[in-house]
Amino acid sequence: MATASALPLSHHLVRLAALLALTQAFPATAETYTNLTQGTTLTPLRPTTFWPSPSGDFAFGFRPLDSDASLFVLAIWFNLTSPQAVVWFANGDNPVQAGSKLELTSDGQLSLTDQSGNEVWSPGVSNATYAALLDSGNLILVSSSSSSSLWQSFASPNDTLLPGQTLLAGSSLRSRLTDLDYSEGRFSLVAQNDGNLVLYPLALPAGNQYKLYWSTNTAGSGSGSRLVFNESGSLYYSLTNDTQIDIFSTGGSYSTKDFYQRATLDPDGVFTLYVYPKNASNGQQKWQVGGIKPTDICTRIMNDYGSGSCGYNSYCVSNGDDQKPDCLCPPDYSFIDSTRKYLGCMPNFEPQSCEHNETDLFDLEMLDETDWPLSDYEHYINVSIDQCKDYCRTDCMCAVTIFNSGQCYKKKLPLSNGRQTGSFGGTALIKVATGNANSLPQPPSSTVTVEKKDRKSLILVGSLLLGSSGLLNMVLLAVISVNVLCRYGNRRPIKPVSSMSGMNIRVFTHRELEQATNGFSEELGSGSFGRVFKGSLALDSRTWIAVKKLDRLLHDSDKEFTNEVRSIGQIHHKNLVRLLGFCNEGVHRLLVYEYMSNGSLKSLLFGSERPQWNQRTKIALGIARGLVYLHEECSAPIIHCDIKPENILLDDNFVARISDFGLAKLLRTDQSHRTNTGIRGTRGYVAPEWFKNVPITAKVDVYSFGVMLLEIICCRKSLGRGVGNEEVMVLTYWAYDYYREGRLDLLVENDEEAMADVSVVERFVMVAMWCIQGEPFLRPSMQKVIQMLEGAVAVPAPPDPSSYGSSIR
Ligand SMILES: *[C@@H]1O[C@H](CO)[C@@H](O)[C@H](O)[C@H]1NC(C)=O
Ligand SMILES: *[C@@H]1O[C@H](CO)[C@@H](O)[C@H](O)[C@H]1NC(C)=O
Ligand SMILES: *[C@@H]1O[C@H](CO)[C@@H](O)[C@H](O)[C@H]1NC(C)=O
Ligand SMILES: *[C@@H]1O[C@H](CO)[C@@H](O)[C@H](O)[C@H]1NC(C)=O
Ligand SMILES: *[C@@H]1O[C@H](CO)[C@@H](O)[C@H](O)[C@H]1NC(C)=O
Ligand SMILES: *[C@@H]1O[C@H](CO)[C@@H](O)[C@H](O)[C@H]1NC(C)=O
Ligand SMILES: *[C@@H]1O[C@H](CO)[C@@H](O)[C@H](O)[C@H]1NC(C)=O
Ligand SMILES: *[C@@H]1O[C@H](CO)[C@@H](O)[C@H](O)[C@H]1NC(C)=O
Ligand SMILES: *[C@@H]1O[C@H](CO)[C@@H](O)[C@H](O)[C@H]1NC(C)=O
Ligand SMILES: *[C@@H]1O[C@H](CO)[C@@H](O)[C@H](O)[C@H]1NC(C)=O
Repeated sequence: MATASALPLSHHLVRLAALLALTQAFPATAETYTNLTQGTTLTPLRPTTFWPSPSGDFAFGFRPLDSDASLFVLAIWFNLTSPQAVVWFANGDNPVQAGSKLELTSDGQLSLTDQSGNEVWSPGVSNATYAALLDSGNLILVSSSSSSSLWQSFASPNDTLLPGQTLLAGSSLRSRLTDLDYSEGRFSLVAQNDGNLVLYPLALPAGNQYKLYWSTNTAGSGSGSRLVFNESGSLYYSLTNDTQIDIFSTGGSYSTKDFYQRATLDPDGVFTLYVYPKNASNGQQKWQVGGIKPTDICTRIMNDYGSGSCGYNSYCVSNGDDQKPDCLCPPDYSFIDSTRKYLGCMPNFEPQSCEHNETDLFDLEMLDETDWPLSDYEHYINVSIDQCKDYCRTDCMCAVTIFNSGQCYKKKLPLSNGRQTGSFGGTALIKVATGNANSLPQPPSSTVTVEKKDRKSLILVGSLLLGSSGLLNMVLLAVISVNVLCRYGNRRPIKPVSSMSGMNIRVFTHRELEQATNGFSEELGSGSFGRVFKGSLALDSRTWIAVKKLDRLLHDSDKEFTNEVRSIGQIHHKNLVRLLGFCNEGVHRLLVYEYMSNGSLKSLLFGSERPQWNQRTKIALGIARGLVYLHEECSAPIIHCDIKPENILLDDNFVARISDFGLAKLLRTDQSHRTNTGIRGTRGYVAPEWFKNVPITAKVDVYSFGVMLLEIICCRKSLGRGVGNEEVMVLTYWAYDYYREGRLDLLVENDEEAMADVSVVERFVMVAMWCIQGEPFLRPSMQKVIQMLEGAVAVPAPPDPSSYGSSIR
């Protein structure tokens, strides 16, 4: 949360791009002026956009906003640090566009006018002969007839004090709204005339003060008291009786000789000393936190009015190294705007209706050590946690209850003053809408059309009827899919899941995951979605986890992402890798899975030792069961879109577990326009319909499963190993040829165990051939695949998969 150093990367890029554009087009901008004389102007684009101090440490001039490079603030900033840091700004509430101008007029007034010529800012003095930006970062207006300056920026601070600057009694700092938005923010630091130095939360937009959250407790010490940041880098509050209170208790450990320094009232309300080593030349240079006040802002702010340190319905945590606070949303809540977290969180679900009895559609999720004090509307004593939950669940007004040692406090929205602290001892129970992963009845196992109750998408799942009529020995049912593309439909509670406890997933902070993975040190692998790291949960270091860092920029809003991930988290099946939790903090999007100790099917199949036939058949059946579950048994069907051996993991007992299901949706670009670049899946496993103008259905997974089944049977890769060789072996054709010639022994490479079971080998090969049919409707459903693999139904002779066109070579 460091004001300058933690800006999202994208904003740095915006800034960088803007700077590049400026410096390339107008290379003369860095020309050194130290005096702005009458008649001189600065403009946002050219010829002179800023003006450096003699040492180059500071610059004064127009600066494009990180959030919108077409808007500019007139500012003073550290020019040599990376990132640069703005320390003063004139028009934070009113950024100007190209065409604006700063001028020291002939009558000695400094004036910022916008593109229409209206004055936006002026220090309100005249008769200045020149203006100068000093090496301290102080901009001064000087009259030749006077020895002292007419005006100085050090006397009109915004959110930052620099060494050499003093905050006199009666003046104040005001935080900006966010790191990127220079408008007036939610906090102020006031050197009061009564001698007290005080931090206040402010009511926006009016700006009146709420109850203070920190002070030096020196009221009555007199109006001569002042906050001094002296030239050698000591920041202290100096009382009239010459007592100095060292604000950050640094005892002068940072000297201005070695460090650039600034003390900034950050947008989160923390008064922070930032230091930046001047000499470290190795790219390690960054703004570091040298001290903060208060150290416990999460629990400090507690007011009857206002949201607290974080926005409404969110909660504050400060467990990082620098103790800077972070704001998080409760489970199933998302930030209204993740770039403006102070606006708070909203539930991802529709609130419980009071009109209808929706008790069964809601459940309570635990959030330990979390509280929103002061907004209780009901209080019970001598109750159990289950009673406390029930009292809230059955009360349509109740959004959250806090359970603490037999006491139960009901709360309604909006929640304020949220915090998570180890010392609380209680538990928040958050009311959330339940999904229902497992409550739909099993689809009939035969050949009936199954209709899914699903608002957005309706899939009619047809199955392959196996009979003995006609040339192909089968009856075909068309598969109709409407608007389903590697996704599942809209999830809204359909049925009660009251008995399903523990199905909810945990929200992790990025810090927790960083710790859990020891700084992302042990990489397990990388896939189409990002890199995967091994970690362990702090509570139980023997519980291993796999943390997947999603590295593509997702188009989803925070809320969509959270919704999707929560839906995925509700899917449990013994052949699926379970999602345990996730993290969604700004640019950080991570998924936390169970750790699978025995690697992937890919390494098993294509490793040095050929796995046993018996084990391979078990794995094939396990994968098929997992796919049936995804396609037919979840509350909303999921098409995996990337079935391949890398995505099948093996647990302690070598049970096959499908990973990465549900992710295709997260990375979708545009579902209605499918181009070659929109193809999901992996070469060698993708169904031909991806390249045609036909709907994508669950049958794409059946195709990939078929290819993989052949790989499991043959322990050979779908595309032959001879890279660059003209004779690239396509496993599907090769296998069909041997199958037709009755040379199953060559398919399994004389695997004795398999040859002892040759009828099963043949059955598996035939099922695979059905699965890789070019026409989706010829492929069986996964349900049917299982029945055939298990021998429950006979498998008719498959047609040549290549005869229906286009397999992917
Ligand atoms: C700026 O102006 C002042 C006053 O006229 C003068 O003393 C000083 O030398 C000037 N500095 C530069 C770099 O021109
Ligand atoms: C200020 O920073 C800009 C951009 O980083 C750079 O181009 C320029 O040379 C710097 N000015 C001085 C005087 O160092
Ligand atoms: C920052 O300081 C300048 C100069 O005192 C003042 O005009 C401005 O209103 C302050 N705040 C913002 C948000 O620009
Ligand atoms: C500016 O200078 C003029 C002439 O020297 C003088 O009459 C006027 O009072 C001055 N104004 C201010 C605000 O000092
Ligand atoms: C100075 O004033 C403060 C507050 O009024 C008081 O706590 C402190 O003891 C005084 N120090 C001296 C040296 O008198
Ligand atoms: C700044 O303050 C510290 C602590 O009071 C003092 O030791 C140091 O001499 C001061 N530096 C200057 C330049 O006044
Ligand atoms: C930078 O300054 C620090 C503190 O003065 C010193 O310990 C360190 O050796 C210096 N490093 C370099 C690269 O000069
Ligand atoms: C609402 O439904 C639940 C469970 O179905 C039931 O226990 C409860 O009594 C009902 N409440 C009302 C007010 O009907
Ligand atoms: C709460 O329970 C304790 C122990 O069961 C009992 O002694 C106490 O009287 C109860 N308090 C109330 C207010 O019911
Ligand atoms: C499979 O996992 C078990 C349990 O963690 C472990 O003991 C075994 O060595 C693993 N086998 C392989 C081949 O990795």
